[in-house]
Amino acid sequence: MKLLHKKNEVRQKVLEWRRKDQRVALVPTMGALHDGHLSLVNQAKQHADHVVVSIFVNPTQFGPGEDFEQYPRSLGSDVEMCRQEMVSLVFAPDYSEMYGTDEQARHPYLSFRITKMTDHLCGPFRPGHFEGVLQVVNKLFNIVQPDVAVFGQKDIQQWYLIRQLAVEQDHPVEILMGPTRREPDGLARSSRNVYLSGHERKVAPMLFQTLQRVRTGLEKNGKLEAVPVDETIISQEVKRLRENGFNVEYFSVVSTPDLQPADAIEHGQTYIIAAAARLGKTRLIDNLLLSHKDFLNHDA
Ligand code: PAF
Repeated sequence: MKLLHKKNEVRQKVLEWRRKDQRVALVPTMGALHDGHLSLVNQAKQHADHVVVSIFVNPTQFGPGEDFEQYPRSLGSDVEMCRQEMVSLVFAPDYSEMYGTDEQARHPYLSFRITKMTDHLCGPFRPGHFEGVLQVVNKLFNIVQPDVAVFGQKDIQQWYLIRQLAVEQDHPVEILMGPTRREPDGLARSSRNVYLSGHERKVAPMLFQTLQRVRTGLEKNGKLEAVPVDETIISQEVKRLRENGFNVEYFSVVSTPDLQPADAIEHGQTYIIAAAARLGKTRLIDNLLLSHKDFLNHDA
C-alpha cells in the first residue's frame, strides 16, 4: 500500500493503473477511521481493482466555532487500518497541498453556490458547510478521477449533493451509498461519538429509536403506506427528545432527490426521515431512507 501526500504522485499512480485498464474507487474521509469507513472500503473493493482512501480534515467545511481544531486525528492508525483492508493508496495531503495557503482555503476566488438542496436539514444549521464539502470533493474527483466513489448514508444530504455535483460538473464517476454502521444499541457510528460523556453515550441511541418510531407510524403491516406526514406525532417525538437532554435542530421527512419537506408519503417515491440534535457538545445526525421498495404492495 502506498501513502502519498502530493497530488501529482497520486495522478501518476492512477495513470499507471488506467494504462492497465484497471478500475479505481475513491473513499473520501476525514480520518479517525472506524468500522463505518471500513465498510465503505469493502463496498468500494467490489467495484474496482484499486481503492484510494483520502484522509484530509477539510477546513473549508467547518464553520466558525465548529470542531475543526478538536476533530480527532489519527493518521498513523488510519494508515494501518487501510493497509489491513488492502487499500492500494492512501492520499493524505496537507492544507497547502490542497489549497495553496490557509487564507485561500477560507476565501476562495471560486466557490460553489448551492440552491434549494441546502435549504433544509443540516443546511441552515451549518452555513457554508456543504459549499466546503463540494469544494474539496470536486478537487478529489479531479485529482483521483475515480470510476466510483463511496460515501456513507449517515451524511445523506451530503450524498445527494455530491451526486448532483458529479452530474453538473461532468465527473464520470458513479456515486455509491454505504449503509450506516451502528453500535449494538443502534447509535450510528461516527468519529464524533468520542466527544460523548458516559451519560450522553447511554442516551444517544434514542435518536435512532425515535426515527424508527416515526417510520413505524407511517407503516401498516410493516410496510410503508401512502399517508400524510403527521406533524403532531413528530412534535411529540421531538418534545420527548428535548426532555431527555437533546437540543433538536431538526426532525423532518423530506422527499428525494430535491430534499424538500414532504407533507405526504406517496407510492413510488423515496423519502428520508432525518434528524440532527446536540447532546452536550456533540452534534448527532441520523436518518432512515424510505425507498419505494419498502411500500405496501396493495396489488399483492
Ligand atoms: O464525509 C466526510 O467525511 C467529509 O465530508 C468528506 C466527504 C470526506 C469531505 O471532506
